[in-house]
Amino acid sequence: MEKVNKIRLLLLHGPNLNLLGRREQRFYGTLTLEEINAAVRQEAGRLGVAIDCHQTNHEGALIDLIHSAEGNYQGIIINPGALAHYSLALRDALAETELPVIEVHLSNIYARENFRRRSVIAPVVKGQISGLGHQGYLLAVRALAGEEGASFQPQEPPGPPCWPSGEPPEHRLRGIRGATAAIANDEAKILEATAALLEQMVTANAVAKEDIAAVIFSLTSDLNAVFPAKAARQMGWTQVPLFCCTEVDVPGALPGCIRVLMLAHTSRRPDQISHVYLGEAASLRR
Ligand code: DQA
Repeated sequence: MEKVNKIRLLLLHGPNLNLLGRREQRFYGTLTLEEINAAVRQEAGRLGVAIDCHQTNHEGALIDLIHSAEGNYQGIIINPGALAHYSLALRDALAETELPVIEVHLSNIYARENFRRRSVIAPVVKGQISGLGHQGYLLAVRALAGEEGASFQPQEPPGPPCWPSGEPPEHRLRGIRGATAAIANDEAKILEATAALLEQMVTANAVAKEDIAAVIFSLTSDLNAVFPAKAARQMGWTQVPLFCCTEVDVPGALPGCIRVLMLAHTSRRPDQISHVYLGEAASLRR
């Protein structure tokens, strides 16, 4: 009978991932590393592939494992932890291997602090999964196992690379517009509507509090029960410069309207910015 060689994958977890389960659960979830590995092994078993899981807090140990992977494995899944953001030695090791590599992060590194938004290994790996919790590892196993619709077989790139340098774009200062209308001149109503608008503007654009450079509010003259900036302060935006003013009183303009111009640092291009117009304010932007 013909011997069928089973696909064998290597799963590498980098520094501090041994602390999963109790470490910053809001980012990394409640599963321990062992529980994640068990789920990964189960998924691999379902797909008929073998997987070896290692965790180490040492950069050199990870590199040694990558060096010895060729010939023994058909693919690597790696969560490099913080090494993703600065380890050029790890990047060089991954760039050198012929094996397909998938980088996984439990949290969405692009929605967190600036220093986490850059992965120095991303340009040399096959693909990256970020922000899907432990599901990210399962998807990576499926892709490397060549499951239907998730194949890692080399494909021609569909077009020129998004970033000619191969590096992600720098963060730039961009303007994000928002507006909401038909608000009653009542302190609680104004604060509630402003908070909802700001929340949606940052969520839609994956902007972290630390990335907001300034916010300018303008209210129609019929809204004077409270400064809308108070809503931002209540959201904990204590370091953001805020400015409130009255909108130009053009006859026939939408009443009860709160307009916002947020200046934020983001890697998005202007055409990727989501401006947010809630309720009747939707008519302000066609
Ligand atoms: C992480 C993200 C890194 O920024 C962090 O240093 C980690 C975990 C993640 O899985 O989301 O250790 O890689």
